[in-house]
Amino acid sequence: MSTDTASTGAASTKDGADPSLTVRDNRTGTEYDVPVTDGTVRASDLAKIRIDDEPGIAVYDPGFVNTASCRSAITYIDGDKGILEYRGYPIEQLAEKSNYLEVAYLLVHGELPTHQQYDTWEHQVTFHTFVHENVKSFMEGFRYDAHPMGMLLASVGALSTFYPESRNISDANIRQMQIVRLIAKMPTLGAWAFRHAQGKPYVYPDNDLGYAANFLSMLFKMSEQRFEADERLIKALEVLFILHADHEQNCSTNAVRSVGSSQVDPYSATSAGIAALFGPLHGGANEAVLKMLRRIGSLDKVPEFIDGVKNGNERLMGFGHRVYKNFDPRATIIKKACDDVFEVTGVNPLLKIAVELEKVALEDEYFVTRKLYPNVDFYSGLIYEALRFPPEMFTVLFAIPRTSGWLAQWLELTEDSEQKIARPKQIYTGKRDLDYVPFADRG
Ligand code: CMC
Repeated sequence: MSTDTASTGAASTKDGADPSLTVRDNRTGTEYDVPVTDGTVRASDLAKIRIDDEPGIAVYDPGFVNTASCRSAITYIDGDKGILEYRGYPIEQLAEKSNYLEVAYLLVHGELPTHQQYDTWEHQVTFHTFVHENVKSFMEGFRYDAHPMGMLLASVGALSTFYPESRNISDANIRQMQIVRLIAKMPTLGAWAFRHAQGKPYVYPDNDLGYAANFLSMLFKMSEQRFEADERLIKALEVLFILHADHEQNCSTNAVRSVGSSQVDPYSATSAGIAALFGPLHGGANEAVLKMLRRIGSLDKVPEFIDGVKNGNERLMGFGHRVYKNFDPRATIIKKACDDVFEVTGVNPLLKIAVELEKVALEDEYFVTRKLYPNVDFYSGLIYEALRFPPEMFTVLFAIPRTSGWLAQWLELTEDSEQKIARPKQIYTGKRDLDYVPFADRG
């Protein structure tokens, strides 16, 4: 038996100095010391475990269930304890005391801004809310019933053609400029996608309003001089934006990082994030929750629906999470925000069905043993509907605030010397060495 060090320069752990794994390859009897850093082993160290010229050992992990793809200092989650922190600050404090633009600054820059830094940031973002008129014509070209997420995805991608300098991602000033532009323009594009479906004229930004108030104005203003949204609704939207701003390496963030790793411009990388968010297992879940609640229709249908879920007919949308296995702290805050919004708008009648579903599920062995709890999407759709948004808009309302998180993660990626172009391995299971068969000879 021989012992190899599977990592360059890492010593054996026998003296207890450096944590490591001893891996014994039973095919050859060789033992390897694989260094453990931050609770992980490097896949490249495992690749050193090999027989002759065969490929080294790789990790098979569909869905990245147990694979870290980066080191990140942006968002911390402890799924068992229900902890979510941005740059070390608990989500509960940020939701209560901060506003979305300040949180966006925190995510992107890593620190809470000073007063002066905040004023400059707010001014910059506000100054860039307008888009080129050709973007408007571009959006007007969509079919009358285009899904607003499809419109958002395409128009964010199209922005790269308006800012060709954005391709120079090695310039820090250019990077910052695009981050400001994207955070500034997302509400404009999102609101216009909404107006489009309604056949209403697009409303230009009102730069005397705050971020959320301006968004509400672009969504709902008609002929009045200024759209005055209820302060409680503005606050609720700010809270929802804060809760959705980042969530470490989720599907869409991974898409942004993966596409961004090719060193493409940030508009293209962000549109990849929007595409990933569109899916019903990710940001599209809140739209699916509303459709599900409407389909259930009344309280007496809840048990039958739950039985269908347990029989594997469908999923209880808005339940379960890859990381949270106790509770989703965002869901707790949103449930409280529901009360504030319903005070202004009146109670959404679907709330009763949602509350009953939650009660039944939380007492049911199927959901308890699988650790399935309400996630951020379970109650957010009820608020959005009370705010007069159609379900198709819900994911847009997720994409707008998530843009700051995507860009913080993208920035971290561009500044991380360890990052490489994303290129997973595969286990090839197909045929090999076939000879081409002409049409005439094919069965
Ligand atoms: N309803 C019924 N059963 C479920 C659900 C659900 N919502 N979620 C998971 N399960 C079951 C699943 O069938 C499996 O059971 P079994 O072990 O018998 O095969 C077990 O729980 C584990 O599920 P999984 O699919 O392996 O878990 P995952 O970590 O891969 O999936 C998830 C996480 C969020 C995709 C999943 O829970 C789900 O599809 N939930 C519904 C969609 C949803 O609400 N998505 C929003 C997520 S939060 C917002 C965001 O971050 O995007």
